[in-house]
Amino acid sequence: MKSIYADNSSTSFPKAPTVAQAMYDYISFNGASVHRSSNEDAYQVERLILETRQQLQQLLGGPSPKYIIFTPNVTTSLNMVLQGLFSAGDHLLISSLEHNAVMRPLHQLSMKGVSYSTIPSTPQGEMITSTLESLLLPTTKAILVTHVSNVCGTIQPIAELGAFCKEHNLLCIVDAAQSAGILPIHMKDMNIDVLCFTGHKGLLGPQGIGGFLLTKDVAHQIQPILSGGTGSFSHTLEIPTTFPDRFEPGTPNIPGILGLHASLSYLNTIGIESIYQHELSLTKQFICGLQELSKYTIHGIPDIQNRTAVISISPTHCDPAELAHKLEQDYHIITRVGLHCAPTAHQVLGTYPKGTVRFSFGYHNTADEVDTILNSLDLLQHKHPYS
Ligand SMILES: Cc1ncc(COP(=O)(O)O)c(C=O)c1O
Repeated sequence: MKSIYADNSSTSFPKAPTVAQAMYDYISFNGASVHRSSNEDAYQVERLILETRQQLQQLLGGPSPKYIIFTPNVTTSLNMVLQGLFSAGDHLLISSLEHNAVMRPLHQLSMKGVSYSTIPSTPQGEMITSTLESLLLPTTKAILVTHVSNVCGTIQPIAELGAFCKEHNLLCIVDAAQSAGILPIHMKDMNIDVLCFTGHKGLLGPQGIGGFLLTKDVAHQIQPILSGGTGSFSHTLEIPTTFPDRFEPGTPNIPGILGLHASLSYLNTIGIESIYQHELSLTKQFICGLQELSKYTIHGIPDIQNRTAVISISPTHCDPAELAHKLEQDYHIITRVGLHCAPTAHQVLGTYPKGTVRFSFGYHNTADEVDTILNSLDLLQHKHPYS
C-alpha cells in the first residue's frame, strides 16, 4: 500500500520532479569543481551557481547575488549569522516559537555574554507585537524570528517587525525554514536584513543545501566564523574580503546547488501562490474534518487565517506517540511526533513535554489523502491505539 506522506515540514517529499535528474547529470557527465578549475565544464557549473543565486534573489526580493551565501542548511546559516554578528554585551529579541536551530546557538552565545528576551505570544502562537517597545534595552541589536512556526504553522508578522527594526535601528533577522517557497517574502520591501533558508523543505530541493541572504550593510559588518580555501586570493592567509567568497570557504555542495537550481525553476513555473492556495485548501479540509471528531485537540490557529499547512494535534484518548505509531503501522500515514526541535513553542501551546502529532501538507498531497487521514483518525478515536 502506498504511504501518505504528511511530514513536509521535516523535509518535503517528493521533491520537484527535475531535481534528481539535475543532480544525476552533474555527477555523471560533468563533475567539474568550481573556482578551482579552468575549463569549460567548470565555467558551465559556475554559471548555473550564479543563476541559482539570481533565482533566490528574485524569489526572496533579495540583495545582489554576491550577498547570497550557500551553506549546508539553515542551522549552519543561523550559527554563522549569530556568531558572526553578536558578541558579549549584545541583546536580541526572539519570538517564543523558535526552533533549536536558533535556541541552541543562542544558548551557547549566552555563555559568552550575549543576552536575549522572548517576545510573548498568544496561546495560538501569534506574536504580541504591542510588547516590543517595552522589551527594548539600550543594548538591543536585533530581532530574530522564525517566519512560520514548525509546530503549529502560525505566521509571524515579519513586515511589521522589519518596519519596527528600521524605526529603532535594529537588525531584522528571519529564519525562513518553513516559509521560503510557500509564502511571499520580499527582503527589501519588508526591511529584512538577514534571511536564512534551507533548500529541502518548501523550496522542494535536496538535503544538504541552504544559505543566507545579507543586505550590503550587514555583509560588511558580519565576521566570518569559517576560513579556508576559496580558490581566490590564494597568496594571502586572510579570508578574502570579496563576496560570496568571504563566507564560502571549501568546495561547495555542487550537486545540492544544482538540485536547488532545478527546484527553483520548478517553483517559478508553478508559482508559489498556487502552491500556498493548494496547501491552504487541504488545511481547511483537514481542520474542518478534525472539528467533527471528538478526541483530538487542534493547537495553534483553528482556521486558515495567518497560518500554513502545518497542523499539530493532541489525542485526548492516548499518547501522541501511540497515535503516530498506529497511523503509520495500520494506515501508512507518515507524520512527526514529539517536540519537533522546538520545546519553547510547545510551552506556548501548552503541549510540553509530550509534544503533538504534526501533519504537514505539501504541494503533492491531495484532497483524497486528507480524507483518508481523517477516516483513519476517526477509526482510531473509537479504539485505544494498542487494542
Ligand atoms: C523553523 C525551523 N528552523 C530551522 C530548522 C532547521 O532546518 P535544517 O535542519 O534544514 O537546518 C527547521 C527544520 O525543521 C525549522 O523548522
